[in-house]
Amino acid sequence: MGVILEVKNLTKKFGGLTAVNDFSFEIDRGEFVGLIGPNGAGKTTLFNLISGFEKPSSGRIRFDGMNITNLKPFRIVNLGIARTFQLVRSFKYLNLLDNVSISCLSPRGKTASEDFKTVEYASSILTSVGLVDKARIPPIILPHGDLRKLQIGKALGTNPQLLLLDEPFSGLSFEEQLVITDLIRKLHDDGVTIFITGHVLRELMNLVPRVLAMHQGKLIADGPPQEVANNKIVLEAYLGRGEDFA
Ligand SMILES: Nc1ncnc2c1ncn2[C@@H]1O[C@H](COP(=O)(O)OP(=O)(O)OP(=O)(O)O)[C@@H](O)[C@H]1O
Ligand SMILES: [Mg+2]
Repeated sequence: MGVILEVKNLTKKFGGLTAVNDFSFEIDRGEFVGLIGPNGAGKTTLFNLISGFEKPSSGRIRFDGMNITNLKPFRIVNLGIARTFQLVRSFKYLNLLDNVSISCLSPRGKTASEDFKTVEYASSILTSVGLVDKARIPPIILPHGDLRKLQIGKALGTNPQLLLLDEPFSGLSFEEQLVITDLIRKLHDDGVTIFITGHVLRELMNLVPRVLAMHQGKLIADGPPQEVANNKIVLEAYLGRGEDFA
């Protein structure tokens, strides 16, 4: 066990707006943690800070005992943090196998796949995310659920210890959500530490044993889903926005 991610007094200001405000928490190796909060709460910004896509205004981030504050995204990936994006991104004109192979060519991906050819390793990842039958198809003609699976496959190609999943259920049908849920659960069973945001709260709350709740950049609750769901401050944060909670 032991702490894998430590975020301390993290703050991100965009001009006069404080998107992440003095945010502190820890995640242990092997944990499965959710991050909830109404629209604009700062969830994606927090992920951007941890993965190096944004630089904090102040505060510190440690991963596996190392200070990773201000490191560039490629360095952070090579230490073992991968992330997916709320808006799906892929190399549109490369087929799925090539999309995943690119991640497998990263330094960590290469180390994990050294006993295999890159293409075989990428193909095994496509199998684990349920896309191997579509290996030769470009992503532009895939349904949204498959694009979400591809995102996860591309992240897995870098052999992450910690996986940040930003809204992996967004835009999916109920059936597609179930497929992605099973996939994420399996990754966690295989030993990947998972930190996941979601708007489909019922799905997320059923998935994780611990939830952080964020509102206006601040951490407002941290605990088991049922406890957080009944937290007065959390309920007010959602009701104040007129959003449904669970
Ligand atoms: N690059 C940026 N420049 C200026 N403001 C930004 C930037 N990125 C985010 N923001 C603002 O920071 C706040 C937090 O946004 P963020 O996207 O992190 O929220 P979120 O919790 O992920 O929301 P959602 O649930 O809609 O995905 C919002 O007010 C947003 O408009
Ligand atoms: Mg977001």
